[in-house]
Amino acid sequence: MSLHHVDWEASSGVLAYLCVDAFLRDMVGARALATAFETGLIDHLQEYGDVVWDDAIHNLGLDGRGSRLLLQMLRAHGVLDAGQDSGRICLSGAFVEALRFRDILEAKLYFANLVAPDFTQLATALLMQPDVFFTHARLFKLFSYQYAETSTPENREQTARWMRITTALTHYEAAACLQAFDFSGYRNMLDVGGNSGEFVLQICEAHPTLQASVIDLPVVCDIGMQHVADHARGDAATRIRFVKHRREQPALPRGHDLISFKSMLHDWPEEPMVGFLQRAYDALPAGGTLMIFERCDSDIGAQQIGYGQLPLMMFFRSYRQPDVYAMHLARIGFRDIEMATVPLDIPFLLMTARKWE
Ligand SMILES: C[S@@+](CC[C@H](N)C(=O)[O-])C[C@H]1O[C@@H](n2cnc3c(N)ncnc32)[C@H](O)[C@@H]1O
Repeated sequence: MSLHHVDWEASSGVLAYLCVDAFLRDMVGARALATAFETGLIDHLQEYGDVVWDDAIHNLGLDGRGSRLLLQMLRAHGVLDAGQDSGRICLSGAFVEALRFRDILEAKLYFANLVAPDFTQLATALLMQPDVFFTHARLFKLFSYQYAETSTPENREQTARWMRITTALTHYEAAACLQAFDFSGYRNMLDVGGNSGEFVLQICEAHPTLQASVIDLPVVCDIGMQHVADHARGDAATRIRFVKHRREQPALPRGHDLISFKSMLHDWPEEPMVGFLQRAYDALPAGGTLMIFERCDSDIGAQQIGYGQLPLMMFFRSYRQPDVYAMHLARIGFRDIEMATVPLDIPFLLMTARKWE
């Protein structure tokens, strides 16, 4: 098996969104920041700029002593600049920059706060007893695909909750993928587990003749269709269609020259994961391309895992080494296997392979 490594370096600000992680590093600061969003303080400061603190508290109807502590926590967290005596405050320059990426900042905050008890209460199980962790962790209750089969108002709400997180992440990850991979030679792509369609939406907007299909669970497709209708620019929405996965019909639809798996395969143990790759092979025409864009198994390095990173790190057992994917692709019959590493919050592998005659 030969795996060709391709160098990739980000350009034109595609990684700029990672600046939000600086405001998610420690739990106290991040939780205080969530309160600043919840109380309307951030919106207030965004609207009025430099304000007198006491006036802001009064206008927002906030508790005095609690707000004083909040101010101190936000200042220590780098969110606010405040004169010691002047009584005036404003958002710090670094935080104003991070607010350009407010959707992902808020999504990561929400995700981290929601599953924080998984770490504070279940860290030993996380590290030593994966089955116990799986049974008790909020993380897996949040990402519960059982609600995505049948469309009811409750199932839609449950499913939309985690789709807001995946959609915000994908919005920025797609931009990096677009820079790392040349989609211009393709006419019709299929994104397996394509969720809200955000991934193909970005690609279709960048490539005006590309058609795309998303295959996913029924409720996910319903929410995705709405997402694409609400957010597409130009004619991109008319080039995207959703295919509802049916249990009794596991084969992937044919007619696509590119099949992608973005942050999808890590959800599955080895055998079903290989099943997806095999079905992609069967569905591709000769000359067709398969793409995997996934977080990969990597060391954390010298720096401690940030609070905002914890939810994604809790999937650490699911992330694979590139060689594992490459070995299965080669076994199935794929050729020209190439990979690059895309250094996002956790390093992503971008692997492509071709089906020959
Ligand atoms: C971890 S999410 C990744 C979603 C998206 N690709 C992203 O990057 O955020 C996995 C996706 O696979 C979908 N999924 C689960 N089982 C599936 C199946 N049998 N066929 C197609 N999609 C499936 C889920 O509904 C979900 O949207």
